[in-house]
Amino acid sequence: MYTKEKELIEKTRQLLKLSIKGIKTKKDAEKIINELREVIKYHDWRYYVLSSPVISDYEYDKLFHLLVALEEKYPDLVTADSPTQRIASDLIKEFPKVRHLAPMLSLENSYNEDDLRDFDRRVKEITGLDEIEYSVEPKFDGAGIALVYEDNLFIRGATRGDGAVGDDITPNLKVIKTIPLSANFKRYGIKTIEIRGEVLISKELFKKINQERLEEGLPPFANPRNAAAGSLRLQNPKEVAKRGLEAFVYQITYAVDENGNNLLGTKIKKHSESIKMLYELGFKSPYKEIKVCKNIDDVIGYCNEWQEKRDSYPYEIDGMVVKVNDISLYDILGATSHHPRWAIAYKFQARQATTKLIDVVFQVGRTGAVTPVGKLEPVEIGGVTVSSVSLINEDFIKEKDIRIGDLVLVERAGDVIPYIVKVIKEARTGNEKPIVFPKYCPSCGSPLVKPPGEAVWRCVNANCPAQVKERIAHFASKDAMDIRGLGPRIVERFYDLGLLRSIPDIYRLDFEKIKQLEGFGKKSVDNLKKAIEESKHRPIHRLIYGLGIRYVGQVTARTLAENIKCVEDLKDWTIEQLESLEDIGYVVAKSIYDFFHNEQNIKMIQELKKLGVQTCKEEEEEGKLKGMTFVFTGTLSCCSREKAKEMVEALGGKVSNSVSKKTTYLVVGEAPGSKLAKAQKLGVKTLNEEEFLKLIGK
Ligand code: IVH
Repeated sequence: MYTKEKELIEKTRQLLKLSIKGIKTKKDAEKIINELREVIKYHDWRYYVLSSPVISDYEYDKLFHLLVALEEKYPDLVTADSPTQRIASDLIKEFPKVRHLAPMLSLENSYNEDDLRDFDRRVKEITGLDEIEYSVEPKFDGAGIALVYEDNLFIRGATRGDGAVGDDITPNLKVIKTIPLSANFKRYGIKTIEIRGEVLISKELFKKINQERLEEGLPPFANPRNAAAGSLRLQNPKEVAKRGLEAFVYQITYAVDENGNNLLGTKIKKHSESIKMLYELGFKSPYKEIKVCKNIDDVIGYCNEWQEKRDSYPYEIDGMVVKVNDISLYDILGATSHHPRWAIAYKFQARQATTKLIDVVFQVGRTGAVTPVGKLEPVEIGGVTVSSVSLINEDFIKEKDIRIGDLVLVERAGDVIPYIVKVIKEARTGNEKPIVFPKYCPSCGSPLVKPPGEAVWRCVNANCPAQVKERIAHFASKDAMDIRGLGPRIVERFYDLGLLRSIPDIYRLDFEKIKQLEGFGKKSVDNLKKAIEESKHRPIHRLIYGLGIRYVGQVTARTLAENIKCVEDLKDWTIEQLESLEDIGYVVAKSIYDFFHNEQNIKMIQELKKLGVQTCKEEEEEGKLKGMTFVFTGTLSCCSREKAKEMVEALGGKVSNSVSKKTTYLVVGEAPGSKLAKAQKLGVKTLNEEEFLKLIGK
């Protein structure tokens, strides 16, 4: 359809450099408006028709906003066919359509303090109030949904669609454990309610899903949002159930009583209270994250605070949502056809950007896998300068047809490593060079092998320096034995100096020699010594993870640790026994089995033990819940009742079915039964799921 794509992309890049302040005259505005419409139409086509965008969502948003801003400034330049006059749809054919009870509007975006102050000014102007209370919560980056409950029952759930009509995906939503199938809305006099929320995949699970996809030879998802949205569209709810989706709910958009009276703004008065209510009804809502702010300064402070902790939050968020807290003001403030005037999104810096791939190098990992790493023209993504990106494997390069010199769209989602979403082929000049995979290990020169059915080329020399260095660095890393001061660079240096040639060598380091090295003072050597000493007493799941067994991530390491007393016990486990553990399939079981049937590995574990590294669970760890009795009520989202029981028992606690004076804790899950009242009557302490998990160290 478009013949001059290169020109349009170039035009896009020019337009992205503009800001409304720099456009002074109406004549200039008119010219830019026309250009914006032309490029936006093109990007809409790439996105919706081809499902193959050439710019990031953030960049698209920026173009769109400039157009909206210019049209607002010069309303007579608005035309019926301007892209601003329609709302995008994500409808797909296969699902039945359903009309939302309240239109699913989107949010206006803001990017800085000034935008937020403008918003505050507008709210005050329209309401005529001098002071406005706001509630501020994270903006979850997943797939939007609307849930309808009637007479306490979950009756329907839908995607956003075009805002008025969405896809009815009720069967897929019913498998999501954080969406209660019933909730006691009647307690609040509510007959029918529509709640909006977002379906998400935690960052941790996202990593795991991608790891599994790679192992199965499937292309990884670019980010948790795509993984969540893609999963919701699966035609088989059973498959959906396997994806571990979660749902946060964050807005009541419709609520009426038996007589059809609206309860929003009358009985349900404050947004923050409605979030608390939803939480108490068993939903996952941002109850702990929400903050009520007295003024816009507080709002700005809270947004900044979250910008800082964004990476450590378990879910991907792309900003904060600022909402007027008093729901009775919603009607006064009203909405445009796109967004309500009582809320605004404060967007964090984008996670995507386009840049040039300038070179490719090949790195050897701790399992010998050779990974192509792309060197990029440095580009800032979400406050971090990105200059390299994993190109995953040869298949990935072939599938995306990545060439040196290409303009590429890069995404950095959370703490996930940067990823090439796509190549902008339309920008090719013809000078791009294909990527040639090496035949020999770049570290030790051994011939590389690619086992049948695998996508990865490997160096199978176990003593390959690159592999050994990686294994040591992994062992010392934060998530494993957490030895501060022994990062990858120091490991490399010690290795090259001959000070460190194996994992056990960490506990035999010659500190007198290290003291003489440049850059090592007494203090840093003392700190390193201390960190190494401390690492001898880490819980054994960290040691298991640190051993670097192929396919054994942190979650599997914990599962293994829960089922053994000492790491070395694993040498007696059969593949079948390993497979009987939660989430361990044949491939992982075989890999663990092989690891513990390799003499060198057993020798290494014995050596570590001799050097003082704790390979068995400490008594304290094991008997932590001794003398305590637990009772469960309601459904837990973490795990089955059976599993929870196992975990309590593994730590020396007891589980009983009924509450009595002897009960130490009643653990209250979703939709608790009569045990809760009994516990309250007897004064038995209760724990919510999170508190329970914390207590047992999960
Ligand atoms: S409130 C009428 N709150 O962001 C406004 N939306 O870009 C109702 N989103 O369409 C939405 N987190 O899908 C609201 N805490 C939050 C949110 C949130 C994510 C999504 C929502 C919306 C989109 C706008």
